[in-house]
Amino acid sequence: MNFNNFPKIRMRRNRFKSFSRKLIEENQLSVNDLIYPIFVTYGKNKKEPIKEMPNLFRYSLDMFEKEIYRIKLLKIPAIAIFPKIENDKKDEKGSEALNKNNLICKAIKIVKSISTEIGVICDVALDPYTNHGHDGVLINGDVDNDETLKVLESQALVQAEAGCDILAPSDMMDGRVGVIRDCLEKNGFVNTQIMSYAAKYASSFYGPFRSAVGSSGTLLGQGKDSYQMDFRNSDEALKEVKLDISEGADMIIVKPGLPYLDVIYKIKNNLNIPIFAYQVSGEYSMLMSAINNNWLDKKVIYETLICFKRAGCNGILTYFAPEIATLLHQK
Ligand code: PBG
Repeated sequence: MNFNNFPKIRMRRNRFKSFSRKLIEENQLSVNDLIYPIFVTYGKNKKEPIKEMPNLFRYSLDMFEKEIYRIKLLKIPAIAIFPKIENDKKDEKGSEALNKNNLICKAIKIVKSISTEIGVICDVALDPYTNHGHDGVLINGDVDNDETLKVLESQALVQAEAGCDILAPSDMMDGRVGVIRDCLEKNGFVNTQIMSYAAKYASSFYGPFRSAVGSSGTLLGQGKDSYQMDFRNSDEALKEVKLDISEGADMIIVKPGLPYLDVIYKIKNNLNIPIFAYQVSGEYSMLMSAINNNWLDKKVIYETLICFKRAGCNGILTYFAPEIATLLHQK
């Protein structure tokens, strides 16, 4: 080994003083990078704790309203809303997704009545609405791609009509972005954006989310492996992203987040598009359980979010959004 550069080069020199570390820093996190996923439910005056996700709640619409005022004050640019509907409204086909007056449509309107500034993102997928918990229509025990597209198209339109700013197809059906984009254009929603979950893996990290929206108990057979991506693959992720972009997606999501930074980095190095990571429910639960046991310092949250930026993300969907926004405002 050649040590000739030492002591001419001392990497620690730049790290020695705080001002210097500030000058050297390559990545930053701002409130503008945050998207807050939030759960709504039926009924009144409800703020139900989600067992697997400490400090997070399912809000009935009246309580949701209050939460939106908090988000507005914190200046978080966008929220993603997820519904937990009554069990007796669920059926084979997820029909409630097409009800123009369903929980999610009401929630969208509430946000819009409080603030025109907050961007509203809604999933396009049927899992909160089906009695089997799958994202699409089951035929012979598997989710049928083309039949599902027909329903997703209508679901997307219902949500756009209710005022949703960004549709986020999270179903992983082939061709869904193209079908939704065409439908939006035909119906005059030319500025409704599509943020597709392009690289969405079949992951056990979604467990707490499924319990939050009440879609876990029923999921049969091979889970979602026949439509969500195999976590052994990453070339495929690039192909999924390219397809979604060519079909009209404006931006894309990689999901889960932290264990998939290589996927984010790969996309960033190959394509010039806005990339978002979803720091999913299981990641939140892992961090929170360690933090609540004093096994990890809270500062780990900020660190994970910077890691997403370093890997190449424009922004992050994270359940920590309010907490981190508060921290960033204090800085
Ligand atoms: C629905 C959907 C899921 C998540 C977001 N949208 C679960 C799934 O695909 O089973 C997971 C989010 C999280 O775990 O935080 N398609």
